[in-house]
Amino acid sequence: MSSKPALPFIDLKAQYAALKTSVDARIQRVLDHGQYIMGPEVKELEDQLAAFVGVRHCITVSSGTEALLIALMALDLKPGDEVITTPFTFAATAEVIVLLGGVPVFVDIEPDTCNIDVSLIEAAITPRTRAIMPVSLYGQVCDMDEINAIAARHGNLPVIEDAAQSFGASYKGRKSCGLSTFGATSFFPSKPLGCYGDGGALFTDDDALAQAAREIRVHGQSQRYTHTRVGVGGRMDTLQCAVVLAKLERFEWEIARRLEIGARYQALLDGLPVQKLVLRPDRNCVWAQFTLSVEARSQVQERLSAAGVPTAVHYPKPLHQQPAYAQWAQGHRFPQAERAAQRVMSLPMSADLSEVQQDQVIQALTQALDGLER
Ligand SMILES: Cc1ncc(COP(=O)(O)O)c(C=O)c1O
Repeated sequence: MSSKPALPFIDLKAQYAALKTSVDARIQRVLDHGQYIMGPEVKELEDQLAAFVGVRHCITVSSGTEALLIALMALDLKPGDEVITTPFTFAATAEVIVLLGGVPVFVDIEPDTCNIDVSLIEAAITPRTRAIMPVSLYGQVCDMDEINAIAARHGNLPVIEDAAQSFGASYKGRKSCGLSTFGATSFFPSKPLGCYGDGGALFTDDDALAQAAREIRVHGQSQRYTHTRVGVGGRMDTLQCAVVLAKLERFEWEIARRLEIGARYQALLDGLPVQKLVLRPDRNCVWAQFTLSVEARSQVQERLSAAGVPTAVHYPKPLHQQPAYAQWAQGHRFPQAERAAQRVMSLPMSADLSEVQQDQVIQALTQALDGLER
């Protein structure tokens, strides 16, 4: 047993302590006006987020999963339509495609960033391809310009960035979520911008798609009780919007801290027998998780846990090896995704992680790696 208290994997308590006055006041205001569904905070948040990302429209929704689902519904995905995506992601990415009767077409990842390997996308396009859905994993944006160029060459295929982990990241000076037809993010509490429950948002510059997404979010209503299309119950609660508004007050600071902490981790890992995530020079990574690759992972995790350092694995199995999704892979193998799934490991990360805590993580990791069979 460690003599030191265990570190939090993500320190939401410290964040709440720093923002308590604003969060409490924002929540109290909602309790006072009582408009729990589509209250004024919903539009206030959408306006602020659209300005932050630099797009015309933000549509808040009930989760990141719902954001992806509504994007595909707004694009009118039909049964049998193919959507190109990565197998190395959270299940929600492929789940929404399958829920609509679509076919996820997996493309392997780059070994160094764990993002979709753009050089493999074109070969996966068929006459049935209806969209490309890259995932900006761990908080580093995919090569969106290249993906958009491929999409443009193939009949202007829509591109949906699954930016659940990358809100706040930038790419060539532009913000994640504002780089393609749709950007979809999550406000799950552990995400770079989180609420205190479930929430998410869609971003687009396309007026017609924004209108469609707004209607789909409220059961397809274009007016009250006029159901113009089939939709879902996908609104984000006013209370959750109020929480995100309070969190936005120090979000720029939090992003800067995440970049600093990420850079410090990367530097401290130099010389250790681990493989660091490679950061492309034209973008940054907001480190939704601080992830690296290591051999003998479970042994390292056990040793870290004994030293009071929690770890997590994002993700232990690629989707083509998951029972629910294996059928879509049609026997194809994705060796880079499989290799990454066996080695990736995430360390404690949040904007409030102190240097002392970070040193504790690195010290424990150095000891955990010492003398391991490789
Ligand atoms: C890559 C990715 N896509 C989609 C989602 C779904 O977001 P939510 O949990 O808000 O539904 C997540 C959340 O973990 C995610 O990491």
